[in-house]
Amino acid sequence: MFAVASVKGSPGVTTTVMALAASWPADADGGVRPVVVEADTAGGDLAARLGLAHVPGLLDVAAAARRPRPGSVLGAAQELPFGVRAVLAPAGAGQCREAVRLLGADAGRVLRGGPDDVGTVLVDVGRVETLDQGLAGVADGLVLVTRGGVDALAHLFPHRELAALTRRVVVAVVGPCAYGPAEIAAVSGAHQVVRVPWTPASAAVLCGTSAKRLRASGWRRSPLLAAAERLAGHLLHAAPSPRQAPDAPARAANEAEPASSAASAANEHASVLATEVASA
Ligand SMILES: Nc1ncnc2c1ncn2[C@@H]1O[C@H](COP(=O)(O)OP(=O)(O)O)[C@@H](O)[C@H]1O
Ligand SMILES: [Mg+2]
Repeated sequence: MFAVASVKGSPGVTTTVMALAASWPADADGGVRPVVVEADTAGGDLAARLGLAHVPGLLDVAAAARRPRPGSVLGAAQELPFGVRAVLAPAGAGQCREAVRLLGADAGRVLRGGPDDVGTVLVDVGRVETLDQGLAGVADGLVLVTRGGVDALAHLFPHRELAALTRRVVVAVVGPCAYGPAEIAAVSGAHQVVRVPWTPASAAVLCGTSAKRLRASGWRRSPLLAAAERLAGHLLHAAPSPRQAPDAPARAANEAEPASSAASAANEHASVLATEVASA
């Protein structure tokens, strides 16, 4: 189970989760497609965007949470037009907050389902400020979505402790960014950094405002899906966590280049962003 959240002022979580699910490697999880769960306390986006009912959905999962055997979240999942399945949430923040509260500390157990449930659960938690610490602790990884400006990146700094709490933290930088992955990793404490391109045409498909199909393979494939596939790769092929291997080499900071080699070269540059963030 992986959680995806944005840092302050950086939209793009739902789109990134959709791209992640749409590009999830076919050979992962024995070919079982992931299921997305909208658990954003600010309210769901997908039902309204795609013209779908939010029932069955998050409210049913939350209602079942108190049962000893809540069952699979798949029972509450719907098929979205671009081949993704998702548990949808109502648009109302009040209902969503209550559903997430009901899931509470049990969210990990409930969302993962029973022993027969295989496949990855991708949880759209909206803003990282509302991320339940219990969920962060049981997730196999966390994606922090941010824009690439120094103001947005500065908001990563207070969340550095998540890298110790969560086995794997990947920062997804949406859109233009003047900083290198090693600099961002140094400031955020993330294990990996992935650049996600700003591609309105692809995002429109995942938002339901375009009926085009996104190419997932071939030389004309969507750059958004290609980036999401790299993101999935980082989540699936996690290096040993700092808790398991405190003396492990420095964290990977560049998707193409392990940080152990990138770190020394980047140290100089990282201090530039760290200084800017510290004084921001
Ligand atoms: N990578 C992207 N390229 C282009 N537009 C994007 C991208 N990511 C998000 N958007 C657009 O930004 C808006 C908010 O995105 P969304 O993913 O719903 O953010 P959030 O879930 O964080 O509120 C949507 O209109 C979406 O199409
Ligand atoms: Mg959203």
